[in-house]
Amino acid sequence: MKKLTTKKKVALTALTLMAPGIIIISSSYTDVSHPVEAKQIITSNTTNPVKKKLPNIKILATGGTIAGTGSTSTQTTGYQAGVLTPDQLIEAVPGLKDVANISTEQVANIDSGTSNTDALMVKLAKEVHKALDDPECDGVVITHGTDTMEETAYFLNLTVHSYKPIVLVGAMRPSTSLSADGPLNLYNAVILAGSKEARDKGVMISMNGKIGSARYTFKTNTTDVDAFDNPELGSLGYIQGGKPYFYNVPTKKHTTESDFDIRKITEDNLHRVDIVYSHANDDRVMVDAAVAAGAKGIIHAGTGNGSINEKTLPGLQDAVKKGVVVVRDTRVPEGMVTHEQTDEDNHFVNSGNINPQKARILLMLVLTKTEDPNKIQEYFNEY
Ligand code: SIN
Repeated sequence: MKKLTTKKKVALTALTLMAPGIIIISSSYTDVSHPVEAKQIITSNTTNPVKKKLPNIKILATGGTIAGTGSTSTQTTGYQAGVLTPDQLIEAVPGLKDVANISTEQVANIDSGTSNTDALMVKLAKEVHKALDDPECDGVVITHGTDTMEETAYFLNLTVHSYKPIVLVGAMRPSTSLSADGPLNLYNAVILAGSKEARDKGVMISMNGKIGSARYTFKTNTTDVDAFDNPELGSLGYIQGGKPYFYNVPTKKHTTESDFDIRKITEDNLHRVDIVYSHANDDRVMVDAAVAAGAKGIIHAGTGNGSINEKTLPGLQDAVKKGVVVVRDTRVPEGMVTHEQTDEDNHFVNSGNINPQKARILLMLVLTKTEDPNKIQEYFNEY
């Protein structure tokens, strides 16, 4: 048998002298760079070994398939999204309480593909900000439908000022389904939100064991559990065996360095921005309809490198003359839209590599600051 060192003997004596149930506040677990953590209590007694302190995670629930139910275990389409409460979601993940202290709040319970709104994004961003303002809160997880998750994620990425992890999670199969993906996705999201490595990485999407950046990741599949990716630029990393592994960091401005601040934004500040999708035999009808509906911005999802049909171009030129900001984007999922002479000639903004649905979010926020196409171009380059 190995002999005990003096240090171990002292530690053992201290432990055996303790009555069961006594709480020890251990200074050896404090972290001076994070005063909140210094207040954490480490519990121990002779029956329970010393427990690692758990992060405090707030789950904000908004609905989606992760909270959806079907009538049979084989129903994986045509089910109802947004049924379960956050507490019911947690019950399906027994190990969750061993990895974090969880509190929950239901912000909405909707199908994000049919019912998400700019007003809801504003409301959610304010709730996220409020939760993270609490010094006891270490991170936030948002359960969300996958259909518009990338838009909500990017809105939060641009408006919430916090270095603490903000993680969106959903599922592709309803909670009642065989091999439902929600419970493991939620478990991974909570691990990620509670991890120090996830700090200052911008808002993240945690699906199918991958960590995606709100800026780059988008929905790539209608039904598969592996539905979020940026096939070209990749993920930030993975979550495996209850641990996050980061390999990349977002290079565009986000959260703490963003010019947009949810504390100063209301739903009424946000102008209408429409997306017009280009196709063969396109014309200006949809552009004119957007202008007539009061759009202050139009994201043109053009063909190829943001090309605009010759019958649509006059509509966009007229829109600019009426003070509408036009962003030249693409319907192609990969590659970037490069700066072209048409941008100079027509005061168009080119989107870079941001997809039309995220460009809409960015332009809506930028329009709260400026209507000058040159300044708007700078925002599109930086964010
Ligand atoms: C939704 O977006 O709310 C429904 C679809 C999903 O969550 O996968």
